[in-house]
Amino acid sequence: MTLHLSVHLLPELIEPEKLRGTTAVVIDVLRATTTICQALEAGARDVLPCLTIEDARREAAALPEAQRVLGGERGGLAIDGFDLGNSPAEYTVESVGGKTVVFTTTNGTKAIRQCRHAEQVWIGCAGNVRAVCDRLATRDEVHLVCAGTEGQITRDDALIAGAIVEGLMGPESACEPDDVARLVRAAWRNVRAASMARGMGLPHHLAVEFEDSRGGRNLLAIGHADDLAVAARMDCFDFVPVLDRETGRIVRG
Ligand code: MLT
Repeated sequence: MTLHLSVHLLPELIEPEKLRGTTAVVIDVLRATTTICQALEAGARDVLPCLTIEDARREAAALPEAQRVLGGERGGLAIDGFDLGNSPAEYTVESVGGKTVVFTTTNGTKAIRQCRHAEQVWIGCAGNVRAVCDRLATRDEVHLVCAGTEGQITRDDALIAGAIVEGLMGPESACEPDDVARLVRAAWRNVRAASMARGMGLPHHLAVEFEDSRGGRNLLAIGHADDLAVAARMDCFDFVPVLDRETGRIVRG
């Protein structure tokens, strides 16, 4: 079976209706999708993405206090009255174990919403590239959807889309990438070659590359440099979070 693979560098570049019957993988490596994976890895029951701060507060208020935690950011910064910001390292067994994370971020949760008509909505980041590729191999139409940063393309997301394209395009694979998929794959291969040339491990090198991206520069400017290294840990998660379209919650797939 041929896998038709498209990459969208911004959610605004897709018509939601065109995703019907397909698998969409949302990528917001700095930091929403990394944080969602980290929350589930730490034992969160599920993650409820909300578009607005008001929606998030309302959803949280409807849940028993012991069973929920409010997390997210605006402008990269923690939101007043929320329990957690959007640094993956904040999402620990102690802070989220067994709880629903009610979550709103500037771009990531919007990108998830934009994919609402897809048959399957998955969550991707550097930490689960291999797991995503393993599970995508049997699909026939796949869209990798980069969240971007406030309507602008960001290189960090594009690189992780490129890593997924690379993982799907072995010599034996029947994968038909679109032009954007070919471009991001080339960008990823350059980064991988540079990491080898510098003798740096890939995660270490990727964190340096993230500094040279729109999302990375934003985080450096607000003092969140540590998050770049956390988000660059390739293949530290062996699962793919999935949006349950009936409940609107993201669960460990
Ligand atoms: C986003 O949704 O764009 C990100 O969460 C931004 C951030 O992590 O600061």
